[in-house]
Amino acid sequence: MTLSALEVSHLKQAPAVEGVLPAVLNRWSPRSFADRDVSTTDLKKLFEAVRWAPSSYNEQPWRFLVGTRNSITYKKIFDALLPFNQGWAGKAPVLILGAAKTKFTHNEGPNGFAFYDLGAASAYLVLQAVEIGLSTHQMAGYDQAAARASLGIPENFTLGAVIALGYQGEPAALINQQLLAQEIAPRERKPLSDFVLSAWGEPANLA
Ligand SMILES: Cc1cc2nc3c(=O)[nH]c(=O)nc-3n(C[C@H](O)[C@H](O)[C@H](O)COP(=O)(O)O)c2cc1C
Repeated sequence: MTLSALEVSHLKQAPAVEGVLPAVLNRWSPRSFADRDVSTTDLKKLFEAVRWAPSSYNEQPWRFLVGTRNSITYKKIFDALLPFNQGWAGKAPVLILGAAKTKFTHNEGPNGFAFYDLGAASAYLVLQAVEIGLSTHQMAGYDQAAARASLGIPENFTLGAVIALGYQGEPAALINQQLLAQEIAPRERKPLSDFVLSAWGEPANLA
């Protein structure tokens, strides 16, 4: 017997802190996805949220290649995943690949913050997903050169993560014991004192 999807989603919740956005507390990255498609209406909501992410010079350098189950784009993204991700991600009904344009449109100068902006846009996407009952799992574990070649992504775009998107599935559907153990493990984070500093090496006093 393992935990049910509902039990795991409770277990994965971050402890409530008054005033922190519920989507932030409730987001986590499942590997088990239910056999249920994501509607176009919901996909659009995610990208509406992305649209309003901030970016350097308002360049909005992000691009998202969206592969829905059975599409050629889905297959190309899936084929580029490393085996440890292919072992579970093929159940997700949507696979998305993020990319960012590395030169500014207004002057063709290098945009050193394009990747930063893609990360911010992706954060909007994953949080908006929670708001409408969807789950995401981002992945760096894929062959970037293979994805770039098969999807025809130009060299002036840098690649971000692949994002598996769908509805959380039952943990028991994961046949691999290691994946199952990860699926039901509590989430861990560093304390604020490790990364909020009042001077370099000195934790800020937020008490
Ligand atoms: C950029 C990025 C790359 C990641 N790459 C992988 C990956 O290749 N495979 C995987 O299973 N999880 C991957 N993850 C998921 C992280 O392991 C996960 O977000 C982290 O352990 C925190 O767990 P949580 O998202 O459930 O809070 C990645 C996450 C991010 C943001």
